[in-house]
Amino acid sequence: MFLTEGNPDWLNAKRYWLKACFSGDNYLLSQSSPDPAGTVRTSDNQLFCCKSIDKLIAESEVPGQRLQKTLGPWSLTALGIGAIIGSGIFVLTGTAAAGEYFQAPSILHAQVLDIIVNFLRGGGMGQVLMHGRPAAGPSIAISFFLVALACSFAGLCYAELASMIPIAGSAYTYSYATLGEIFAWIIGWDLILEYVVSNVVVAIGFAAYTKAQLESFGVHLPDKWSTPVWETGHWTGSYFNFPAFLIIFILTVLLVRGVRESAKANNVMVAVKIGAILVFLVIGGALVNPSNWHPFAPSGFGGVVTGGAIVFFTYIGFDSVSTAAEEAKNPQRDLPFGIIASLIVCTVLYVGVSIVLLGMMKYTTFVTGEAADAPVAYALKVLGASRWSRSIIVIGALTGMISSLLVFQYGQARIWYAMSRDRLFPALFSKVHAKFKTPHYSTWIAGFAVGIPAGIFAISDAADLSNIGTLFAFVLVSLGVIILRRTQPDRPRIFKVPLVPWFPLISIILCGGLMTGLTVITWLRFVVWLGLGLLIYIFYSRHRSEFAKK
Ligand code: ALA
Repeated sequence: MFLTEGNPDWLNAKRYWLKACFSGDNYLLSQSSPDPAGTVRTSDNQLFCCKSIDKLIAESEVPGQRLQKTLGPWSLTALGIGAIIGSGIFVLTGTAAAGEYFQAPSILHAQVLDIIVNFLRGGGMGQVLMHGRPAAGPSIAISFFLVALACSFAGLCYAELASMIPIAGSAYTYSYATLGEIFAWIIGWDLILEYVVSNVVVAIGFAAYTKAQLESFGVHLPDKWSTPVWETGHWTGSYFNFPAFLIIFILTVLLVRGVRESAKANNVMVAVKIGAILVFLVIGGALVNPSNWHPFAPSGFGGVVTGGAIVFFTYIGFDSVSTAAEEAKNPQRDLPFGIIASLIVCTVLYVGVSIVLLGMMKYTTFVTGEAADAPVAYALKVLGASRWSRSIIVIGALTGMISSLLVFQYGQARIWYAMSRDRLFPALFSKVHAKFKTPHYSTWIAGFAVGIPAGIFAISDAADLSNIGTLFAFVLVSLGVIILRRTQPDRPRIFKVPLVPWFPLISIILCGGLMTGLTVITWLRFVVWLGLGLLIYIFYSRHRSEFAKK
């Protein structure tokens, strides 16, 4: 398709372009100077230049780079649920409830919050290094509820920005329009931690569950081709974790073929995983012994909070609904709906699973071994649930992981697509497939960026890294809402966060608080990752940006 006068795509692009340059976006225009190329500078310093929202919308309409609008409110909700319920609820609930007792081998493995509290109390480092994570016990159900509350504040902020700026790229695009180029780059780079790293974790979990399930049917996958190659600093002797790679490869093919087909596949998978969780609630509910719910909160509120820092992983994904903004039929109305509805559904299911699981067995059961790695499957097996019912639940769990993987692969490709359209990433990333109208290069690159590490590494600290990256994105998005309310108060907002700045501030405080629950080594890795990103920005992206002084 060519960009010719008279072509509807051309007219659309032109309409938005003219609007951006001459009428809309009053704030930006009143404080900025358009250059001949149509670029509107909002600051003399390139680092703080913001993109005009109208221009962002205009660019998204340019033919050859335009995505198809196929997603309605329920597909978006399913997209959210698809991303949120992955491996976390089936893997982390047990250990979060049971707590951990260890001696941190070095300061690197101590929690930042522990260090701060200890410092304020005037204590020595010895106490920080000799500690454990207090058990939440059955009160992990409250942790799930509280984390959902924290996520809802951030979710409301995402919803407001997504309904104002219905463009692919999520938090990356929002920060480019509100905070400036350097923040946009940082957040775009940071989001790789949320999308790529968390999918590496889920893909590895998928491979482990698949191997175990096939084992129960008498099929033994060769260990050398189905286990991690590198684990806790050692080569394991394995060649490649092929199932972890294969699942990502298959999903990549599906995503390249088109979002309509993928959304349909996602809807089916979401139904299956919700069904599996409901089956668990019924079968597990019948095996509950109420005495296991006592004591309900063995470590008081401290246990509830540290449990929350762990189960935060299970909620990662609701924000990915906003990455589908350009493919939504009615983004202004449907994006906030999709984000909030998917959070509510998942909270109800998570709280239900945790109450039933911790009623089936004492929380102390889930400290180590199979009980810690696969608590749901373990409790059903030990309490004598039939093999078919266990299989239904495990296969449902696997389906859940597949849909989570699908949405994150989708989201990562869209973020790179948006960054490439802004010329901060190479042009290849924003090429759209001639037939399928999907960003196929971005999708394939995301496939290999997840599939290859998933085939090599073990889960270890990847989940923590993903948590810190996601929480940081939430903080910046909440900040973006406050700033945009001041700088562009008149821009239409179909969805508005109530009580600004208080709600976004609560989101910033809660997400920042959860970040302090992570270890020093996680913070260091995070800083190194951001540093690497900054080098790429300084030596490459900065010079290609539309705001670069030519
Ligand atoms: N929320 C996703 C999960 O629990 C990442 O697996």
